[in-house]
Parts: sequence; structure tokens; C-alpha cells
Amino acid sequence: MYTQSMDNMSPEEIREQAAAKKMLRSAEDLQAEQSFEARIDAGDFIEAKDWMPEHYRKTLVRQISQHAHSEIVGMLPEGNWISRAPTLKRKAILLAKVQDEGGHGLYLYAAAETLGTSRDQLLDALHTGRAKYSSIFNYPTLTWADMGVIGWLVDGAAIMNQVPLCRCSYAPYARAMIRICREESFHQRQGYEALLTMMTQGTPAQRDMVQDAVNRWWWPSLMMFGPPDAESPNTAQSMRWGIKRISNDDLRQKFVDATVEQAKVLGVTLPDPALRWNEERQHYDVGPIDWAEFWRVVGGDGPCNRERLAARVDAWEDGAWVREAALAYAAKHAQQEQAA
Ligand SMILES: [Fe+2]
Ligand SMILES: [Fe+2]
Repeated sequence: MYTQSMDNMSPEEIREQAAAKKMLRSAEDLQAEQSFEARIDAGDFIEAKDWMPEHYRKTLVRQISQHAHSEIVGMLPEGNWISRAPTLKRKAILLAKVQDEGGHGLYLYAAAETLGTSRDQLLDALHTGRAKYSSIFNYPTLTWADMGVIGWLVDGAAIMNQVPLCRCSYAPYARAMIRICREESFHQRQGYEALLTMMTQGTPAQRDMVQDAVNRWWWPSLMMFGPPDAESPNTAQSMRWGIKRISNDDLRQKFVDATVEQAKVLGVTLPDPALRWNEERQHYDVGPIDWAEFWRVVGGDGPCNRERLAARVDAWEDGAWVREAALAYAAKHAQQEQAA
């Protein structure tokens, strides 16, 4: 999920890109680049073995790996509630959903590896804080209603972000996204259904709990689409390459328009006094988004940034024996096969 907000280049990448532009390119490279651009313009998909410009490769490694990190860090806030689910049915659903997110991480790491970066390198970037993941997972899950609201709003925003990626020009990413999107629909539905049950059959305290969760998650969900288009410097290039198909602001608008109607059915209020239908635009207007908060959380200073990263590093260290055992088993197996 969650890739719109993460196509920001590191200073190192910006320098490399500038240096690459200055370098004289060979006629062969120029020709390769021209035929690559022609394929993109024709709507062709690019496969792992095909020639691609270095900047295209790097952009994809960054986007796909940060997407993968978001999936596995995204398991943490909801994993927090598995042992406290109110019924066996809710527990089974939540468990399945959190496992799906782990699966999404695996498909995406595999897609990123096709671009020539190893899983160890990708995870090292996460564990040392060099790679980002979606900031939405740096917010805490305070009540059971947060499970429903994450499904409804966070997975709902993820679907808006991800459906266009099923047509991403890089084929291994597009293929992974098709499967992921199917599962995300289930995530959104289960969240909405859990909230609807609480709102229609619950006690006043349960309805208040849902409203409180909506109040806390609404604005961070809108931030999931990334900074406004005017402040999203890589959008134009990513659009040209068919990596990104719809701009941040357009996707955010689509999400708002769909969600306002769903909120009415649920009977919750979205915490924005400026939210109203604009007859002229035929869209809902929203109040100002607190971008200072967005950049603060992206920069590492959200409510749970340290906790989330520490949990991932611990999981990596605790799992070392599994990786060692798997390698030892593979080596033993190879030896036996050679001997036979
Ligand atoms: Fe996911
Ligand atoms: Fe999901």
C-alpha cells in the first residue's frame, strides 16, 4: 500500500541523477534509451531482463521496497489487537488480514529483487532508517474500533493508491499488485463491516469508540496520498514512465468522494468542518491538511516511529536462527545431491 507518499529521492540519488545527466552517453546507450521510451509510450510492459535506464530502475527499487516495508510494518499496529479481538470470528478475520499483509511484503520484496537488489540490502536499508515506509503506521492503535477504521480508511486509501499500480509499466510490480488489490478489497470490507456492526448493534459507548477512532485516523488517511501535486517533484517523471498513473491530489479527491458517502451510511461524522459538496466542481471540498504534521512523521517524529522500527529490528535479530538453519539445510542438501 501506500506508495504515493514515498517517491521522494534521497540527496544521494539527486546528486547521482544530476551527474548522470552531465555524463556523455554512448550512441548505443542513447539508442537503447530511445527504444525504451518508445516502448513506454506504446504502453508496453517492461520485464526484468529488458534494458532500462538506471534512474527508472532506482525509482522502482525505491518505490517497491518502501511499499514492501510498509506492508510488514503495517502488520504491527493491527497485530497489537489479535490477542484482544472481541470474538473468535473477529480474531480469525484479523489474523487472516495481518497474514495477508505479510504475504504482500513477500511478493513485493520478490518483485524488487528482480531489479538486482538483494533482500538483505533492502532490509538493511529499513533497519538502519535509510528507507521509508508509510507514515500511517507510526500512529498508535488505541481501541478495538481502530481495527475497523484501519480496514475502512487505511486499506481503503491503499486500494485507491494501488489499483492504478496494476497497470504500472514494470510488469513484475504490476503482477504483484493485481493479487494484492484483490486481498485489499477484503481488508476494506471486513473493516467497514466491523464498524457497521458496532454502529447499528452496539452500545452508545461502542458508537463513541468508533467516532473517536474516525476522528484520529481521518487526517492521517488523507496524508497517505502524499504531498500536494505542486510539492511532489518526482511525479512528472514517474507519470511519464508509467510508474504512476494518477496524481496525489486526484487520488485523494477520489478517496474523499467515495468515503463521505460511506460515512453517511455508517452514521459517523468526518472531523472536518470545511467538508462540503462543491456543486461547481462536482466533488467534495476538504479543509486544510496539516502538512507540517505529515513531514514531522515522515521525518521520524511520529507517535510510534521508534517503536515500529525497533520491533522490526528485533524480529530480524530473533529470526537469525531460522535463516541460519535454512542455509545449513540447503548446503547439506546440495552436498547430498552432489554425492549421489
Ligand atoms: Fe497490504
Ligand atoms: Fe491491507
